[in-house]
Amino acid sequence: MTVSTIILAAGKGTRMRSPNPKILHTIAGKHLIAFGVDLAKAIKSKETIVVVGNENEHATKVALAGEKVKFCTQKSQLGTGNAVKIALDGIKIKAKYTLILYGDTPFIKNKTIKKMISKADRGFEFIFLGFDARKKNSYGKFKLGSDGKLIDIIEKNEPEYNSTNSLSNSGVLLARSPTLADLIQKIKDNNAKREYYLTDVVKLASKHGHPSTYVECKEDECIGVNSQLELSIAEKKFQDKFRERLMASGVSMRAPETCFFSYDTIIKAGCIIEPNVFFGKGVKIQSSTIIKSYSYIEGAHIGKHCQIGPFARLRPGTNLSEEVKIGNFVEVKNATLASLTKANHLSYVGDAKIGANSNIGAGTIFCNYDGKNKNHTVVGDNVFVGSNTSIVAPLIIGNASIVAAGSVITRDVPSESLAIARPIQQNKIGLGKRIMLKLQKISYKIRK
Ligand code: UD1
Ligand code: CA
Repeated sequence: MTVSTIILAAGKGTRMRSPNPKILHTIAGKHLIAFGVDLAKAIKSKETIVVVGNENEHATKVALAGEKVKFCTQKSQLGTGNAVKIALDGIKIKAKYTLILYGDTPFIKNKTIKKMISKADRGFEFIFLGFDARKKNSYGKFKLGSDGKLIDIIEKNEPEYNSTNSLSNSGVLLARSPTLADLIQKIKDNNAKREYYLTDVVKLASKHGHPSTYVECKEDECIGVNSQLELSIAEKKFQDKFRERLMASGVSMRAPETCFFSYDTIIKAGCIIEPNVFFGKGVKIQSSTIIKSYSYIEGAHIGKHCQIGPFARLRPGTNLSEEVKIGNFVEVKNATLASLTKANHLSYVGDAKIGANSNIGAGTIFCNYDGKNKNHTVVGDNVFVGSNTSIVAPLIIGNASIVAAGSVITRDVPSESLAIARPIQQNKIGLGKRIMLKLQKISYKIRK
């Protein structure tokens, strides 16, 4: 069984009312178009062709850089039939079957496509994916013959159209490649919208003696994104599913509806996610860690039994070993913290490697940026950094050393030493009182 995939994505997406291409909007941090590309990968598509338009061509190519996909440009959007024709003209499809997906329909399942393939294996040449709509919609409608086979798809605005006929066309099509390549040339635009309708292949197929049928799936699987509201509905569906899956795998959440995940978030069993936590892309958390409320985490790997937050910000490149504590208003970026190390309050830890069992005091700032370069700091094991310390990178603080509170550290600290880098305190006996009296006299004068 071999399949090539064409993903239609040339449409302007006008209803999004956004200067950005529709298919580059995201669900859980993943571009809409990437859902189709991943589905193609999941079914082991031999080649994947994305049909883009003039407006979104460049941005789509950038977004999909690194993916094994080919691109075709449809200069004017003359309809889905025209888009497929351009893809087939531009690229010689080598597979027995051609799968057509839409760039704005993210939830089609692998197993649904497999069902379609098995119908094709039984001799059907065109298999459309349909769903039973819960309410009236404006999708194309399946017209079935007396034997239940698919004989036509009626588009909105066409005379025969009946919006309450419940079998709606999702748009997804699996076709025998040579037959599709032949019939696509025969599609005409003699309809209300003067568009080349891909769905006209059904009529043409029956005229030329090629059998068509359909596979039915749940409506939820076929939802498309055409507006910002629909994007938010799709996002909600994704998040709800994701939360359910996490909880089923042993993650606790007191208010799951307030926690947001990325498509690639990995959280192991025994973790607790308190309300109002956001996970950006690239987060992996080992078992039994707690993420407290109002934390924002992206690109971070977190070990077992850690405590993060409340109000923690973990940025890309954060790597925490086991039993690490990151407390409130602490930002960590591109930093590795070994086990049992703590940064509990009001700190910035950037571009650093910190050993085990060290303590980063409240208000410690790793001064990593000198205006031009990002500089790196190494802190050893069992180090105690006192509160309100500035560590001016690049430098190394050796094992088991202590940095006195309020220090501005600009040089390496050898192991097992105490570094103090702050002006020496002077106590001037009696001067406090004299100053106070003077100040009070001034304020007395002002009051008079
Ligand atoms: C299409 C189907 C309809 C189905 C509906 C499901 C046709 C004629 N109709 O209608 O039966 O119920 O999808 O959503 O196929 N596109 C291009 N080039 C074009 C036109 C469209 O690449 O010239 C792409 C769009 O970017 C989009 C997809 O094809 O990803 C569907 O286009 P759209 O205009 O939304 O199709 P509908 O008219 O809604
Ligand atoms: Ca549409």
